[in-house]
Amino acid sequence: MDFNLNEKQAALQEKFRVFAEAEVQPLAAKMDEEGTFDLGILKKLHEQGFMNIPYPAEYGGADGDYIDYALAVEELAKVDASTAITVSVHTSLACSCIDNFGAPWQKEKWLRPLLDGGKTGCFGLTEPTAGSDAAGQKTVAVPDGGNYIINGSKIYTTNAEFADTIVLFALTSPKLGTKGISAFAVDAKTPGVKIGVNIPRMGIRGASNCEVFYTDVVVPKENLLGNEGQGFKCAMMALDAGRIGVAAQALGIAQGALGLAIAYVKEREQFGKPIAAFQNTQFKIADLQTRIDAARLLVYRAAAAKSNHEPYGLYAAMAKLYASKTANDVAREAVQMLGGYGYARKYSVERFLRDAKITEIYEGTSEIMKMVISGSMKLV
Ligand code: CAA
Repeated sequence: MDFNLNEKQAALQEKFRVFAEAEVQPLAAKMDEEGTFDLGILKKLHEQGFMNIPYPAEYGGADGDYIDYALAVEELAKVDASTAITVSVHTSLACSCIDNFGAPWQKEKWLRPLLDGGKTGCFGLTEPTAGSDAAGQKTVAVPDGGNYIINGSKIYTTNAEFADTIVLFALTSPKLGTKGISAFAVDAKTPGVKIGVNIPRMGIRGASNCEVFYTDVVVPKENLLGNEGQGFKCAMMALDAGRIGVAAQALGIAQGALGLAIAYVKEREQFGKPIAAFQNTQFKIADLQTRIDAARLLVYRAAAAKSNHEPYGLYAAMAKLYASKTANDVAREAVQMLGGYGYARKYSVERFLRDAKITEIYEGTSEIMKMVISGSMKLV
């Protein structure tokens, strides 16, 4: 057991950190304020190797693993959680569905452009009335000759505004429950696909997160990923991987917020000395950094298990549950340490607090994580 990054991982981490600080950090407050993702950053994320990390070179991937990927998401989230989730949804939700269920020719057609062609993916699972109960879908795909006709709507589709490929879930056999859901690769420009507004929200305001409407969308049968009825399994497998991404995002938010607080307490003087000299501040920071390191170990354990092709869904759920709670607690304490300045927009710490909340909600709420964890423990 070795808890250190190897040389290659440390070099990658440094590369990700330099990019995040130089290219993303300067735009983060503006993207949050305006509620728009910067497409120049998206282009650079593709060019700089953030969008293809844990995929084989055979299809345009970087031949990396999930540790490399978690390092990238963490470094991005240290400066901007919106950029981190943009990478994460593309990588571990959209790309993994095609990688896991696509035939080789489908990977050539849809995965390769997402990995080395500058194209971006999104994941259409959640519906206005089907969130935690992901099987309660209403979107239908009805066979019609060589096509399916898809009708329905999805909500909270991250990356929707600029995605080229949508991995879309729809009912092909509504009476079969989870076995009646199928997955499709859908060109976002297909007639009948309408992207709604970027939903105004509390945090990750720089990301794109929209309602998407599907009206008589004609999708060729060749776009089916796997067999009919394998869609739920496809979505659940992708979400297991996605939860490593969200956990790494939460870890980055926590470390980023604490970093801002540490810089502040060293400078800020009250009662004649830097507030870092007060034991209350020191003990608080010691507690928070210990929790962040515990979260980091959980994230790396999940990422290592996935990379080693071992079962990892339980570890991913634990990592997400713990890291997301840590991110919220650390960001809240960071705001407190900055006091009035923490509450002010200008100092960015309040953005970390607003961004942290979603990590307890998307890609499986904390309550769903507890269901996954307790379910694996065979308590009943
Ligand atoms: N991997 C592979 N297969 C899985 C699986 C997994 N992790 N989890 C379940 N399955 C399979 C089961 O084995 C079962 O198959 P069989 O019938 O062959 O045995 C089938 O799926 C049904 O399983 P369940 O009976 O456990 O299904 P359920 O309906 O009770 O749901 C759940 C279980 C854990 C609650 C699941 O619905 C869930 O994870 N819900 C949360 C959904 C979620 O995370 N949504 C977020 C969407 S994405 C998003 O947030 C937006 C974004 O863009 C960021």
